Amino acid sequence: MTAQTGEYPQTAAGPEAINLGLGQPSPSLLPLALIREAAAARLGAGADPLVLQYGAIHGPQSFRESLAELMTRRYHLGAGHEVAASQLLVTGGISSALSFTAQLFARPGQTVVCSDPTYFLARGVFESQGLAVEGVPVDAEGIDVSALEQRLARGAAPAFVYCMPSFHNPTGACLAPDRARRLVELAERHDFLVVADEPYVMLGFAPEPPPCMMTYDEGRGRVLSLGSFSKILAPGLRLGWAHAAEPLIERFSLHGALRSGGGLNPVIASIVQGVIEGGALDRHIDHLRRTFEARAQALMDALRQHLPRLVEGVAEPRGGYFVWLPLPEGCDGAALLEAGSEAHGVRFTPGSRCAVTRDLSRFIRLSFAFYEPDELREGARRLAKLLTDAGYSVTA
Ligand SMILES: Cc1ncc(COP(=O)(O)O)c(C=O)c1O
Repeated sequence: MTAQTGEYPQTAAGPEAINLGLGQPSPSLLPLALIREAAAARLGAGADPLVLQYGAIHGPQSFRESLAELMTRRYHLGAGHEVAASQLLVTGGISSALSFTAQLFARPGQTVVCSDPTYFLARGVFESQGLAVEGVPVDAEGIDVSALEQRLARGAAPAFVYCMPSFHNPTGACLAPDRARRLVELAERHDFLVVADEPYVMLGFAPEPPPCMMTYDEGRGRVLSLGSFSKILAPGLRLGWAHAAEPLIERFSLHGALRSGGGLNPVIASIVQGVIEGGALDRHIDHLRRTFEARAQALMDALRQHLPRLVEGVAEPRGGYFVWLPLPEGCDGAALLEAGSEAHGVRFTPGSRCAVTRDLSRFIRLSFAFYEPDELREGARRLAKLLTDAGYSVTA
């Protein structure tokens, strides 16, 4: 029996199909009891009714302090560095933060440079704010900063560069430290913002997490790092944060919707504060890291067994949710999905969906977050059958 998404999916998964495109935690990883207990403590008898009042614009101060402590514990910030509550503003998750960012830090008609491939739904957020989107390639070391530099030298003037420095969606790559430093230098020289979308930074499998992008900002106010509870706790909470130097956070706080409606999701923030304090979120994140590592391993082993030819040059995932798989020469992922996935009971995200301007039709994105190891193994087997039946050779 395969897991189902119910009526709340970004992409539907029925019981008969294994949808390796789903970049969400599986139902078994959604911690209902943790949220229930924290909600009972915050909203139960004797609770302060002010929890239901308009929230502080930056988010509740005590929540931001707990979050700053969590981030200082779990981020790789370098010796002597810590996250301060004053560098944080509560958001309704990264999607809404991207929309605020586009409204505050770009004018309609301006260009956003995105890593290519990119998180495919971010593109729509930028376009719905009237921004044009251009791509800069991503390789095994993250966004190609030399290619960006050449683009800037030829006169490109982006409002901001949108990147995913840790466990990139869809490639899984982490930005090399020298590139990250160079990116911030370029941002200063050419006067743009680096918008770092970092929902997976705490989900590395190794004990040492990759550095978060703010590590490289060093007070320059060029990096706006966006975090979220969607991938480390539950997407339905719609809660996240912006992390940046104080002047940038202050600019964020001037958004009209925050001034009118107050800070976002104060009730949920208050509940999540209860999950952070006492260490339940730390324990949950550690459980997720172990679970995702085992699932990634199961998927990679199954890909090696059933599709050895395709997986040859693919790096072992080191964290996050995704594997970026090349297809055989001449095979278009979207066409493959359209033609045979229903009959074969397997789905995935075609690379063309994640492409900005490159032709990435010969790639597919597979997520190991949503299914149990057995289901992932079955998904890999079905994928191999789909390709073989379509006439492609996937074994040596
Ligand atoms: C890179 C990236 N950014 C943002 C999101 C969405 O984040 P949120 O749920 O906080 O809006 C996702 C979800 O798949 C993602 O992979």
